[in-house]
This record gives sequence, structure tokens and C-alpha cells, in this order.
Amino acid sequence: MRTTAIFNHKGGVGKTTTASAMADILAIDYGKRVLLIDADPQGNLSTFYGVEPDEGNSTLDLFMGTHEPVYSDWISAARPDAPVDIIPSDTGLVQAEVAALKEDSRFNRHAMADLFRAIREDADADNQFAYDYVLIDCSPAFTQVSLAALRDADDIIIPVTTDLFSTAGMATVLQQIMGARDDGLQSSVAGVLVNMYKRGEDQNGLLAYLRNQKAVATFETVIHKSDKVVPAGTHGDPLIKFSPRCAASRDYRALVAEYVAQRGGHHNAKA
Ligand SMILES: Nc1ncnc2c1ncn2[C@@H]1O[C@H](COP(=O)(O)OP(=O)(O)OP(=O)(O)O)[C@@H](O)[C@H]1O
Ligand SMILES: [Mg+2]
Repeated sequence: MRTTAIFNHKGGVGKTTTASAMADILAIDYGKRVLLIDADPQGNLSTFYGVEPDEGNSTLDLFMGTHEPVYSDWISAARPDAPVDIIPSDTGLVQAEVAALKEDSRFNRHAMADLFRAIREDADADNQFAYDYVLIDCSPAFTQVSLAALRDADDIIIPVTTDLFSTAGMATVLQQIMGARDDGLQSSVAGVLVNMYKRGEDQNGLLAYLRNQKAVATFETVIHKSDKVVPAGTHGDPLIKFSPRCAASRDYRALVAEYVAQRGGHHNAKA
């Protein structure tokens, strides 16, 4: 099992789009079992998959320890026709931040690590919850829930857009990630992912800057801006089904291939 946090403290850079596109491609094209964790109180990922949190089955419950991770009633099917499951969220997730701030003992900052361990312990069992990939859609903020994801996931993918780029902002993200990790930046950041790319719009030369610096890898694959992404989101359809031949579908397929090739040999790195 490989666990991946998708994070940037900037909003609207494509974190949720990347989480859902990668999950759907891994499940539909590769036949992998995928768990999504909606770690954002905006709940965009849950809305995309049409799953609302019920009492006891949300990311809030995961962090507040109100529910043992009994997968069958904990995790909802996100795609009835593909092996994608989800732990959903809504605005209630801010209660976890309040609890963390108040040092409420019910807030379990190791909840994500505990869940990953439980899933790994079950991994040999021939059950539907033996996930191959867990993808965490983070909120655009350094919340306690984001920090848990950054700390406990094997990998971090950082989507960025060229128009929002500022060197200072990028440095902050990397610093914060380093602060959250104890095993170094190189090993944990799978890559910076340039999204909504359009030739001629990269006024700041972000792509060249990223490719030239050593501290963090940038994916070879760039996700181009595509006018199919917003309608696919509105429909809640997998992008690769909604518009199989659009630039973004092609690019996300290339991204998954690149990611699987890059990380595939280290599946049990943290087992
Ligand atoms: N490659 C793309 N081409 C065109 N539109 C895109 C692309 N990627 C994302 N979008 C659109 O940009 C908007 C922001 O994307 P998304 O919600 O994935 O960002 P986010 O980083 O998750 O935002 P937030 O920080 O609010 O959680 C959405 O409307 C999405 O459909
Ligand atoms: Mg989002």
C-alpha cells in the first residue's frame, strides 16, 4: 500500500482534481483498490463523489476517535463501478481543529497513521479493504489534519499553478513539509505537479525554475489547462470517462504512469 498526501497551502491549484483523477485512473485503468480521504472541511472531494458524511463515518470521526476503524461501516463506496472508496468530510471537520487547539484528549493526531497501520495489518487478507493506494485530499491550510497527512503519508504531491507562483510561497510549503516530516524532504515529496499549464502563460518561468532546482523533484508530466475539467467536476464523472481524449485526461494518465513507475518499487517502504 502506498499513501499519498496532495497538498499546497494555496487554494484552487488542483489538489481535489488531482486526487480524484489519480484515484479514478488507478482504479479504472489499473484495477487498483483506492481509498480517498477527504481531509478538507470544504468537502469538495466528497461532493464530487456524491458522498455525504453520516454520523460516525467521516474524517472528523477518524480524528476524534469516535469510531474504531471498522471498514465496512466506516468507508463508503465512491464509485459503484470501480474500486474507489472514500472517507468523506464536510464543514464539521473544523471541530477537529478546535479540539486540537484546546488539547482535547479525544483528538488523535496519530489517527491517520493508526488507520494506515490497521489497513496494512489486514493487507494479506483477501478483503475489499486491502487498498493499494490511499490518496488524501488536503485543505489549503496548515491545519492539524493537514499536518497529520503530511507527516504520516509515504509521499506528498504538491500541485502548483504558474499564475499563482511566488518563490516565497513555494519555499514556505517546502519548509512546512520538512518541519512535519522526520525522514527528510527528498524521500517524501514525490513531486511538484504543474497544473493548469498553458504555453505562454508561464510569465514567471515557474516550470524552468522548478526543473532547475534540486531541493524537490518536479514531475515530468505537466497537466494542461482543459475546458473539460470543470464540467467533469460538475457532473461528478471520472474525467477519463467524461472526456477520455482531452489534454487533462491524457496528462493525468501520464502522471499516474510516472508516479507508479517512480514509486512502484517501494510499495512497502513504511510497512
Ligand atoms: N487542468 C485543469 N484545467 C482546467 N481547470 C482545472 C484544472 N485543474 C483544476 N481545474 C479547476 O480549477 C478549480 C480548482 O481546482 P481544485 O478544486 O481541484 O483545486 P484545489 O487546490 O483542490 O482547491 P482548494 O484549495 O479550494 O481545495 C476547479 O474548478 C477545477 O475544476
Ligand atoms: Mg480542494
